[in-house]
Amino acid sequence: MSNTKKSSKKHSRTAASFAAPLRKMALGRHFTWGASTSAYQIEGATGPEYGRGPSIWEKYFEDRPHLDHGAVACGHYERMREDVQMMKRMGLTAYRFSIAWPRVMPDGHGRVNEQGLAFYDSLIDELLANGIEPYVTLYHWDLPLALSGENGGWTNRHTCQYFADYAALCVKRYGDRVKNWATFNELEVIVAGYIGDGLAPGLSNPALRVQVGHNLLVAHGLALRAMRAINSEIKIGIVLNLVPVEPANDSKEAALAARSLWERGYAWYLDGLFKARYPDVVLAEAQASGVVFEPGDMALISQSIDMLGVNWYLRLVVDEKGAVVPVPGATVTQMGWEINASALSRMLIGMGKEYKGLLPPIYITENGAAIDDVVGEDGHVHDPVRTTYIYDHLCALEKARRKGLDIRGYFAWSLMDNLEWSLGFAKTFGIVHVDRSTLKRTVKDSGRWYAHMIARDRGLKAPKF
Ligand code: FCB
Repeated sequence: MSNTKKSSKKHSRTAASFAAPLRKMALGRHFTWGASTSAYQIEGATGPEYGRGPSIWEKYFEDRPHLDHGAVACGHYERMREDVQMMKRMGLTAYRFSIAWPRVMPDGHGRVNEQGLAFYDSLIDELLANGIEPYVTLYHWDLPLALSGENGGWTNRHTCQYFADYAALCVKRYGDRVKNWATFNELEVIVAGYIGDGLAPGLSNPALRVQVGHNLLVAHGLALRAMRAINSEIKIGIVLNLVPVEPANDSKEAALAARSLWERGYAWYLDGLFKARYPDVVLAEAQASGVVFEPGDMALISQSIDMLGVNWYLRLVVDEKGAVVPVPGATVTQMGWEINASALSRMLIGMGKEYKGLLPPIYITENGAAIDDVVGEDGHVHDPVRTTYIYDHLCALEKARRKGLDIRGYFAWSLMDNLEWSLGFAKTFGIVHVDRSTLKRTVKDSGRWYAHMIARDRGLKAPKF
């Protein structure tokens, strides 16, 4: 293991050695305890022998050969059963994963790949047989390449209908077993791939911002309608990454700047979904960039949903001019993201007020920290910072719940170390370590703590780790 370092301390397997307490949390009796991944970040098996079509990420990495890519990733496609056993040992009650659109529909529409469809059948069956509830995300950024390029990807409304057809295919196939669905993962980050070049397709055209975001919401609305027409029993939601923006000082200007950035970057999706209207700052931008809204769009977008997934990692702090400023003395992760769990409860409590009576049940669908991990001589990964991070964020959820927020579940990001997109394998978020040369999985201390925590919360016997 390249990152193995000598550790003189003998590893103790007793609960007392954990970096965070183990206790029954005030999160409700039926709280969902999960972990998340996404297809391209873990599956591998991208070659033609698997019948999968290329996604925009193959092209992105082909154009940037110096970067890590996902051809092997964590080898999950081949190790799926072993991975499910690991989740079972950890006591997870749910697993959130994504279906790769190009694996099941290689061209994005029309032809299907039976081998790909069968892979998700086996994954779903394996999870259910082991008492783990599948939470499926339909789109975690891997657009079929055939729909991108000249076909415009998410700038083209045709893609919205293709997405709804793909969603319908998945519900037809898996809806008898999968009860919980999300259409999209993180609209703001999908948009980032059009206005910048750090994510696929890397178009670097800021004028596309509102049009792409709006099209994604339209695609969500079309998919919702198509999925419900096939199966009215399933629960459907969407996952947003929400980054609260807080003022650096007490001035009115900083408060206004913070509000404006929050509306422009994040709240506009919430407003579209729950208020059927975008904030003025976004409408002005839409007008300036010639965005096309069609009649009926807002009604389509604001159909009621059964759950809201919130991916939460950080807050931003801005000065009077709206510039993001560093927080003095802040502790940051490998990503440079400030660790500040209290900002999560503040954000949720604020949302509870602003969208009073409008929000569906909330699930924290991603939360976690990239930390420089070290594999000890004892073969274990001692990651007290990640353990404390997860515990502090669970406490933040307890606080928001006490204020009346309906929070139903928590999914750690990520189940395992994986490809952090263009940043490669060096950014490690997993509660399970993955050795890059052997792909061997080792549950980190944070994962062991999480497993004990789940057992304690559910009144079950402590797991054997
Ligand atoms: C989120 C993504 C996820 C992972 C984490 C760190 O934005 O949904 O795939 O990259 O960040």
